[in-house]
Amino acid sequence: MVSRISPLPRPSCTHRNGDHGKRVVKAWVRSGSSGVVPDRSGSRPTMRFGERVRKIEREDRLDPLISRVKKIAERLPTGTVRDVLHGVQFGHPLHSIMVHLPIGTWTSAVLLDLLPGKNERSAHTLVNIGLLATLPAAVSGLADWSQQHERQQRVGVVHAMSNGMGALLFGASSLARANGHKSWGKALALAGMGTVGFGGALGGHITYYRAGGANRADHFIDVLPEGWHDLGPLDHYPQEGMGGGDVDGVPVVVTRTEDTVSVLLGSCPHMGAPLSEGELVQGCVRCPWHGSEFRADDGTVVHGPATASLESLETSIVDGRLWVRPRMSVG
Ligand code: FES
Repeated sequence: MVSRISPLPRPSCTHRNGDHGKRVVKAWVRSGSSGVVPDRSGSRPTMRFGERVRKIEREDRLDPLISRVKKIAERLPTGTVRDVLHGVQFGHPLHSIMVHLPIGTWTSAVLLDLLPGKNERSAHTLVNIGLLATLPAAVSGLADWSQQHERQQRVGVVHAMSNGMGALLFGASSLARANGHKSWGKALALAGMGTVGFGGALGGHITYYRAGGANRADHFIDVLPEGWHDLGPLDHYPQEGMGGGDVDGVPVVVTRTEDTVSVLLGSCPHMGAPLSEGELVQGCVRCPWHGSEFRADDGTVVHGPATASLESLETSIVDGRLWVRPRMSVG
């Protein structure tokens, strides 16, 4: 006899929201595919910005556009130039730095437009500086975008379209100002600011909600237990090669040459790929997903798209067994 499996009731969350101690019941639960749906209490739905943007992540009608933009991204130079665009030499994503220039100058221009006084010339100059800064911001963003997951890329193309529209509006504002149409110049800049603001919020979603550009391996440093840890017999790891292991669930990658052994955290800072599944190339650990490379001896990032280096662990060999500990460990 086949017994039916009944779904367990979902737990509900209750909290006080600070409105004078009045009890509030969170009345909405997330459905599997469509974002947020009401429970049976009939309260109004509340969908936060991050939840709304996740709808864009699932929007497969954007995929043909993504294919076309990918073809443009493939034309970007490789090697050192591509590393510069990612921000490898700087140790920080370049795009998130470059976007400050157009956003900062355009925000300042709009504020000058709104303030009393004769600010037209300064505002026009700031609009034009922002336009010049758009190109490096866009190209570095394109380089990062080309190495992201599908759901990030879907949000990314909307982010780029919104910012592109904003740049066009600021371009039109500059033209209007140059031709003496001050009011049009101000109105177009204001519209451009709103569009760029929306695009920036989508960029924030990619960065903070979806950790695009964040160091995906950073948290492992904090959970790595202090003191020495046994990684087993050294012979277990191939000479002139690499192998994987873990320290209390924290993945590590072990590389060996004839007379050296190095141990790095085994998760790629770019998107968290298991580095032990990559390869050892000329003294560097190469990531299996997007090809970032890290020096095996100290974890320094050599090629992107990753921009953060890998944490390297202190090693010791006792009776043919490999031991490791975090470098700042006192145990
Ligand atoms: S996960 Fe992208 S380079 Fe490693």
